[in-house]
Amino acid sequence: MTDKPWSGRFRTQIHPEVERFTESVSIDYRLALQDIEVSIAHARMLVSTGIIAGEEASQIIGGLEEIRNEVVSGAFRFDPALEDVHMNIETELTQRIGEAGKKLHTARSRNDQVATDLRLFVREELERLKTELRTFMNIILERAEEHIDTIIPGMTHLQHAQPLSFAHHMLAYFEMFRRDLERIEQGEKRVNQCPLGSAALAGTPHPIDRFMTAGELGFSEPLRNSVDAVSDRDFAIETVFICAMIMMHLSRMAEEIILWNSQPFSFIELNDSYSTGSSIMPQKKNPDVAELVRGKVGSVYGHLISLLTTMKALPLAYNRDMQEDKRPIMDSLDTINRCLRVFCGLLESMELKKQEIERSLSGGFITATDVADYLSGKGMPFRDAHRITGEMVSALIRDGKTFADLGIEEFRAYSPLFEPDILTIITPAVSADRRTSYGGTASQRVREALRDARAFLGDQGHET
Ligand code: ARG
Repeated sequence: MTDKPWSGRFRTQIHPEVERFTESVSIDYRLALQDIEVSIAHARMLVSTGIIAGEEASQIIGGLEEIRNEVVSGAFRFDPALEDVHMNIETELTQRIGEAGKKLHTARSRNDQVATDLRLFVREELERLKTELRTFMNIILERAEEHIDTIIPGMTHLQHAQPLSFAHHMLAYFEMFRRDLERIEQGEKRVNQCPLGSAALAGTPHPIDRFMTAGELGFSEPLRNSVDAVSDRDFAIETVFICAMIMMHLSRMAEEIILWNSQPFSFIELNDSYSTGSSIMPQKKNPDVAELVRGKVGSVYGHLISLLTTMKALPLAYNRDMQEDKRPIMDSLDTINRCLRVFCGLLESMELKKQEIERSLSGGFITATDVADYLSGKGMPFRDAHRITGEMVSALIRDGKTFADLGIEEFRAYSPLFEPDILTIITPAVSADRRTSYGGTASQRVREALRDARAFLGDQGHET
């Protein structure tokens, strides 16, 4: 059995069950590269402040670089008996370089170390997430640009409400993801503060330079309070919340794709390579990718609640409960990245069935609001206009007809305010195009919105 770094105070070996129970390296091995980066920055600071000798620092850094190569190549073997990634790397370093390795842990603790590693990990993951999200938003935009003049039935209560440009509908999602992107950028500011040098909780008597290590590691500044620095995980909770929000938005889109793909709608055809079949029903082509995205939201919401709950009653400062933070954070980020990537292909390759969409628009009374708006536009109080239009709809349903079946005289029987132009106004395309209010679905507004969205993504592209 391996001797623990803390073995000085202990008389018996750890129980094997406890060893298995307390280890975290099976999960936090993913922090190895961040851990090495943090240790190198720490060693540089220790030598520049005169806490260790130059020769010791070069040995430490050389040893850590060797270990880093092995971690990258996959040759490094993590040992669960050494509990976590931090002790695995430190122990290996000392085995390789001897005495100098034992000085690396001067003026730090695993408590500030793990918090720093995790912030670096989250920072990198958020960068990646932003790239994935921008790629996805770009595809949303491309699909929107193709379909400015494709009119779909806009829904409320999942019932035909008013005609919409498909582009306008897609741009609604674009706006949601735009806010998600902003949320990531705002969150990153809080992630990018450095706990290192807070040591166990109270700071250290050694003459360290926390501004130097923060700078070396690309943080904007050291965290102001050493107790807060090792106790808090709100940056992680916020990250998982952002993942949950993006997943929720994705899931709504997934739900619509599932509906549109179903026979009652038949608005889209999914690409074969993004669908799956049934093992018993030969006719089926299922939207499993969209369903799985919708399904995976559950685990990310769960991670958010689990992290919040883990933290809610912890007295300051570090408690071992906090080791449970890695899985929710890592799994949320993995899930969101995988979902976004697969969704890009799904959205990019799906086809709109324009004829089916048009057919669905002709059946009902999706332009009823236009009829009421027409009358109120001619001076009739809107409430009266609403009632008269309602009476028309009711009579038409009774006769098995729609507005399109009426001639001008039949309209005029309901109100002398109707003029022949009503006959075009009740067509879905004209209805949509008349909604020229700011943020509305008229094609001229949609074109403006598309230009704005393009400019946003363009600026985003330059920023990185
Ligand atoms: N593996 C631990 C974690 O992830 C590292 C910090 C351990 N600190 C301690 N005082 N036992 O939280």
